[in-house]
Amino acid sequence: MSTAISPTAYNYKVVRQFAIMTVVWGILGMGLGVFIASQLVWPELNFGLPWTSFGRLRPLHTNLVIFAFGGCALFATSYYVVQRTCQTRLISDSLAAFTFWGWQAVIVGAIVTLPLGYTTTKEYAELEWPLAILLAIVWVTYGLVFFGTITKRKTKHIYVGNWFYGAFIVVTAMLHIVNHASLPVSFFKSYSAYAGATDAMIQWWYGHNAVGFFLTTGFLGMMYYFVPKQAERPIYSYRLSIVHFWALITLYIWAGPHHLHYTALPDWAQSLGMAMSIILLAPSWGGMINGMMTLSGAWHKLRTDPILRFLVVSLAFYGMSTFEGPMMAIKTVNSLSHYTDWTIGHVHAGALGWVAMISIGAIYHMIPKLFGRAQMHSIALINAHFWLATIGTVLYIASMWVNGITQGLMWRAINDDGTLTYSFVEALQASHPGFIVRALGGAFFASGMLFMAYNVWRTVRASNPAEAEAAEQIAVVGAH
Ligand code: HEM
Ligand code: HEM
Repeated sequence: MSTAISPTAYNYKVVRQFAIMTVVWGILGMGLGVFIASQLVWPELNFGLPWTSFGRLRPLHTNLVIFAFGGCALFATSYYVVQRTCQTRLISDSLAAFTFWGWQAVIVGAIVTLPLGYTTTKEYAELEWPLAILLAIVWVTYGLVFFGTITKRKTKHIYVGNWFYGAFIVVTAMLHIVNHASLPVSFFKSYSAYAGATDAMIQWWYGHNAVGFFLTTGFLGMMYYFVPKQAERPIYSYRLSIVHFWALITLYIWAGPHHLHYTALPDWAQSLGMAMSIILLAPSWGGMINGMMTLSGAWHKLRTDPILRFLVVSLAFYGMSTFEGPMMAIKTVNSLSHYTDWTIGHVHAGALGWVAMISIGAIYHMIPKLFGRAQMHSIALINAHFWLATIGTVLYIASMWVNGITQGLMWRAINDDGTLTYSFVEALQASHPGFIVRALGGAFFASGMLFMAYNVWRTVRASNPAEAEAAEQIAVVGAH
């Protein structure tokens, strides 16, 4: 047994920073979601100003929830998981600190530029070229820290969670750099390097794999660590996790054309995208089942452990949205769902039910450990948060299904003489009740985040980070 170890075994500082910012950005991003949802109910909330208009705040919402909230959760958990499963400290504290401050700078840049109307117009890739370059530099540094840490691991084996995080980091870099290739004409304006249908295809190759690798693969990395940890059971099948990994990353990359059905994209490419999306159901459910079955023999814990409930319900929503997605990828179904609120419902089944719920569960799991506490300040508050989040998600997606199918059917209804039965405004009026229910569901979800912030604040206030690190130090020495 060796006692010659560094003063602190793991770099928890950067994990703590990213974990706290996950909560902060979660509140802001979801609060903004509630605001834009309310604008769809009461258009007066646009205030007649360009920078508070729905069109400018919507991309700010998506950037804040995906990249700020989701991104910080992914940074925090991946840095935590890679250190603990490799039993080694991050390869460089200063590079890790750079990723934290660089990432926050990109987010602040988004908060300033998007409401001002600076945008590339490519969805989920709106940030103009100076910010896109900063993002690329931060991301490559993230890759260096993550893979560098893996190379100096003290364990022989690379835990499967790290494979998922690794794939998410590599593919996100590739997507971002390729899709952002552009010609700057001024500091705030650039034109895409691609044209026409090619531009659309590259954008949705990016867009779909942003879903596949940013919003799915990274969070599956989270799932493979935090579900077994919180359930105190080994993962159900290690063999299935390897099959799951290779099948998922092989298939996802082909499914992008399902975003471009009935467009100028060649028909064969649309059909290929559809077929690959349907096959994608198999690895998606393989992963979901692997996570769920990890609870074999531990299901009773759900009665008393709301953190585990967050993690398991997130898997249920993951299963649901990855069943719905392949269905919507079928061209005839898409001809009804496309452009309607059904897509928005599908997005938030994944975003609220899966991405946000698993992140919230993981953060609740980590916070006490990061701040030297036995557990969160209040388990009752976590429980209340769980119910607000679950009810909020259900209200959101159910109202969007009703709206989506109503809109799709009203838009396609035709009279005997071939004229449209309903005007667009009539379909909009029919959607109004659904918009109200969605805003209410969103308000439930966002208020749960306020409970979380209070709970985290109370836990942190009574914390002792030095003790947390000392405890880890002992654990690592003991493992030698
Ligand atoms: C309180 C929670 C939330 C509310 C109330 C909310 C509300 C909204 C609204 C009103 C829209 C625009 C819909 C439209 O154009 O018709 C939207 C779009 C979107 N939101 Fe959220 N949102 C919430 C949370 C989230 C989270 C946590 C994520 C991701 C992790 C997310 C990801 C997205 C995405 C990707 C879109 C664009 C969808 C598309 O273009 O098809 N949202 N959200
Ligand atoms: C097997 C898995 C999945 C498949 C095959 C799939 C398929 C689809 C399809 C067909 C659409 C509609 C495209 C359109 O009509 O424009 C869509 C939209 C979307 N999906 Fe999924 N989906 C899957 C899982 C997920 C998950 C887990 C999430 C979130 C975490 C998600 C997020 C989104 C987003 C954000 C959009 C909206 C894109 C946009 O138009 O802005 N999907 N998906």
